[in-house]
Amino acid sequence: MNVLNESIIKARLSKLLKTRKMGKSIYVFNELDSTQDYANSLPKNESFHGTIVIARKQNIGKGRMGRNWISPEGGLWMSIILIPDFSVDNIIFTQFIGALAVADAIFENTKICCKLMWPNDVLINEKKVCGILIDVHVENETKKIVMGIGLNANIASSLINDYLTSHDLKATTLKEEYGNEVDLLFLVKSILERIEYYYDNFISCGNTSEIIDRWKEKSDMLGKKATVHDGNQMIVGHIFDIDQTGALLMKLSDTSIKKITYYDNVTLH
Ligand code: BTN
Repeated sequence: MNVLNESIIKARLSKLLKTRKMGKSIYVFNELDSTQDYANSLPKNESFHGTIVIARKQNIGKGRMGRNWISPEGGLWMSIILIPDFSVDNIIFTQFIGALAVADAIFENTKICCKLMWPNDVLINEKKVCGILIDVHVENETKKIVMGIGLNANIASSLINDYLTSHDLKATTLKEEYGNEVDLLFLVKSILERIEYYYDNFISCGNTSEIIDRWKEKSDMLGKKATVHDGNQMIVGHIFDIDQTGALLMKLSDTSIKKITYYDNVTLH
């Protein structure tokens, strides 16, 4: 993607995509503050289901929990607009769909098997290679979800060292783990096709079990000790399952069970 200009990237991607809705409307930029901010602020008449915004580099990339996201050239920085017709209570599933789609796409392109960490991290060798950020807009009857995907693809890991020092989880890049560069457009194509697959299945059958089962298969969390940061309180327990609403279930030392939702801040030990 690096040597091509914006309109060529757009044309090549449109040609590659075999999706019905994902990526039918594409915005590509050499440089943007944040694809997430751009997609969040697109007006309703430009926010179609499946619209994507890609930047080769971001100046003010945003992560979860108000963190910044280091986004140099070579990474895959993309935001996808979804117009859901399900309740916002099910938003957590879009997070799972994003992480599963990225893990499938990495496997398709490199044969590397990723692990997933709740709710939004994709890991290789216990290090974070990708994070997903979900923003939700609800206005009267209209809902809009913006799914941001930050995949450290063709980047030297020295470039994301700041990230390494400021978080509990270590970061890595696909280039580092695979030993080669990957074609970013093929990665985008695989991610969008897998998102469409999971999303359409989820919508058409309203069935969350396929997503939960796939997620559990790939998860690295079940059985692990974790801490939830709840205001000033720290709650420690063992993660043992995910329920049908997508909440993580943690058993505490007094055998009571705490449900952890998307908005909670969890650290694994
Ligand atoms: C996380 O904290 O794990 C989520 C990181 C999400 C980063 C992506 S990069 C594309 C999109 N634009 C942003 O500013 N953030 C998201």
